[in-house]
Amino acid sequence: MRILNQLTAAPGYLLDTLTRGELHRIRGLITAQYLDHLGKLQPDLVEHARRAGIAKYHTLPIRFDHAAAWPKEVRLLDPRCLSTFETMGFFRRIRRQLGPNTIISHDELNWRLVRPNRPEDIGPIHADKWFWDAGYGVGFMPAGYDRFKIWIAIHVEPGANGLCIKPGSHQIHTWKHHFEVRGGIRKPILDEDEEELMMELLPLQAGQMVMFHDELLHGGVVNRGTTCRVSLELTVLYDKAEGLQRLTGTPRLATTN
Ligand SMILES: [Fe+2]
Repeated sequence: MRILNQLTAAPGYLLDTLTRGELHRIRGLITAQYLDHLGKLQPDLVEHARRAGIAKYHTLPIRFDHAAAWPKEVRLLDPRCLSTFETMGFFRRIRRQLGPNTIISHDELNWRLVRPNRPEDIGPIHADKWFWDAGYGVGFMPAGYDRFKIWIAIHVEPGANGLCIKPGSHQIHTWKHHFEVRGGIRKPILDEDEEELMMELLPLQAGQMVMFHDELLHGGVVNRGTTCRVSLELTVLYDKAEGLQRLTGTPRLATTN
């Protein structure tokens, strides 16, 4: 089915997969950034960390404060990586459907690491749209563009960690939430009973990805595996009129001026 159909109609998401080579390449980019930053935090750990692999980060004898050590800016891949992602199969498939003006937003090209059995490593359930509503990303969105998110499993144990979603939740626009300023950033807080939401953990293998609607409820789950979960996120921006035109097959209206 067409990407926009699956994003806008139920269930609000679709899956795709990296090739083994693409997964290997992304793992290399993330690992290089991880080891580079680790070298600044605690240089004596780097060789040990390199041999252990990023998924064993939780076993390292760290002497720094984990919560403060990995802000988003040190997990944001270099903008030069964008061209690497744009040559990958999943993005070429997206561009074929949504048009040549489709781009990946660099401001969202970041990876996350979730240690085993650490509830504090997980953010609350939310819709990405709430962050944009709160003022995040003002200026990132070109006029006439729309967006969706992609979450890619990099190191995972399917069924024990990953991303949970609520299928179809993007069609309900009344999920209760409010905003609070935390750490100087205005963040949305869900006011629904999480038990009642019955979120579903997607059993994705490493290299699989989920593309989902801006209003789909989603969140991390406490990692019940034995290794760190590593994932990568990116936001795709596309020309709304071009995407819709390609979806419906109707020609764009000619302008007279
Ligand atoms: Fe999100």
